[in-house]
Amino acid sequence: MEKEVSIGLLGLGVVGSGVAQLIENYQDDLKHQLGCGVRVKSVLVRNLEKARSYDIDHSILTTNCDDVLNDPDINVVVEVMGGIEEARKYILQAFQAKKHVITANKDLIALYGPELEAAANENECDLFYEASVGGGIPLLRGLSDGLVSDRIQQVMGIVNGTTNYILTKMDVDGTSYEDALKEAQELGFAEADPTADVEGLDAARKMVILARLSFLTNVELDDVEVEGISNLSLTDLQYGKQLDYSMKLIGFANRTNDHHIEVSVQPTFLSNKHPLASVTDEYNAVYINGEAVGETMFYGPGAGSLPTATAVMSDVVEAIKNMRLGVNGKKFVKPRFQKELTPMDQRYSQFYLRLHVKDEVGAFALISELFHQMGISFERILQKPSNKDELAEIVVVTHETSLAKFKDSLAKLRELYVVENVESFFRVEGDAK
Ligand code: NDP
Ligand code: HSE
Repeated sequence: MEKEVSIGLLGLGVVGSGVAQLIENYQDDLKHQLGCGVRVKSVLVRNLEKARSYDIDHSILTTNCDDVLNDPDINVVVEVMGGIEEARKYILQAFQAKKHVITANKDLIALYGPELEAAANENECDLFYEASVGGGIPLLRGLSDGLVSDRIQQVMGIVNGTTNYILTKMDVDGTSYEDALKEAQELGFAEADPTADVEGLDAARKMVILARLSFLTNVELDDVEVEGISNLSLTDLQYGKQLDYSMKLIGFANRTNDHHIEVSVQPTFLSNKHPLASVTDEYNAVYINGEAVGETMFYGPGAGSLPTATAVMSDVVEAIKNMRLGVNGKKFVKPRFQKELTPMDQRYSQFYLRLHVKDEVGAFALISELFHQMGISFERILQKPSNKDELAEIVVVTHETSLAKFKDSLAKLRELYVVENVESFFRVEGDAK
């Protein structure tokens, strides 16, 4: 094997600069681990004139993708440019040229992961994407290698740093949603257009990747039910505090039996007893329950230049080690099971519900009678005296029930004349822990 492996970067932004920096700063450590050096030979960028946060030799920058994709010296291509169609085209081109590909692009892997894995396999190339979920947390390899002999039942993740930062600020400091989002943008956690963050799509893409690895089935983005945090109110967060809950945007991937899975992203009231409740600010964490291992939790920085670059570099090192052994082309995910989604009547959780009701005798009795008829019992009840509109505010937390039954109850509740409005409802998790 050569004394030095040449790498081509597609992109030199937040993550690309981190990768170039790690390769320079830890060259001796990489040599020690690999028995050869690693160098960045060419870097594709959009704008050659742009000032760079990392001081790199500008002669290796190019705006011509062929300088990376068609250079026979380059064995490993690192895609950290983002976007979908162009990135996909370049990655497929890299495989045709027999280059191994590392990417941090969760959007691309969530949409085209199976197609890209097949192309990598056909060309006996590696495709790794450790950085696509949880930034610097060594998570995907932890799942696919560390828990290979286990059967995973449940994955619950805080996988979007922006929303966790916003919720922490709203919950702890009482900051408004708008101000907290602005802070997250200024700190660089949010995407350029933060819609994907706050509407839950970024988390949904990451949950697709986690669910594929956990359940060995081809989960797609359309299978994920997604709800973001843009409509949350401080009122609910304050009630949550009284109930000893923290509001989190949680990605769920649950397996009810071998073949039925549920993947969703939703704002959730988490009991403060649950280990994920203590994950604050921009941090990410993924809680995994396996048949054999029991509970485990992976925690760390979900974004940022150097943390994300460490995940990219773990993939680069893996690809180079595989080159040495001549074993490239193994899939990260080998689908095994037919996909079957869990029907609503088999999806169980507790629920938080906030109602505005007419402040009159018998109103609460009518509501509790309805829930009684539906077979749903209350675990906790809070009631605020009527306001100037003569409406009382009632908050209930139900015992565990199926989603189908809860939705039926909501429909019936809206027909009761005493119910002025169903203000909000959220999934509740972790009370039983
Ligand atoms: P940036 O926007 O900071 O950087 C993108 C880089 O790619 C820039 O250098 C840009 O060039 C270059 N680029 C983009 N499009 C093109 C194109 N069409 N042709 C040539 N060059 C192009 O992105 P990030 O580094 O933040 O993110 C990169 C990837 O990593 C994304 O997929 C993102 O989702 C993922 N990721 C990011 C994390 C983070 O913390 N930022 C964490 C985990 C994953 P130029 O500099 O000239 O504009
Ligand atoms: N916008 C993303 C987040 C970046 O906030 O988690 C890391 O994927």
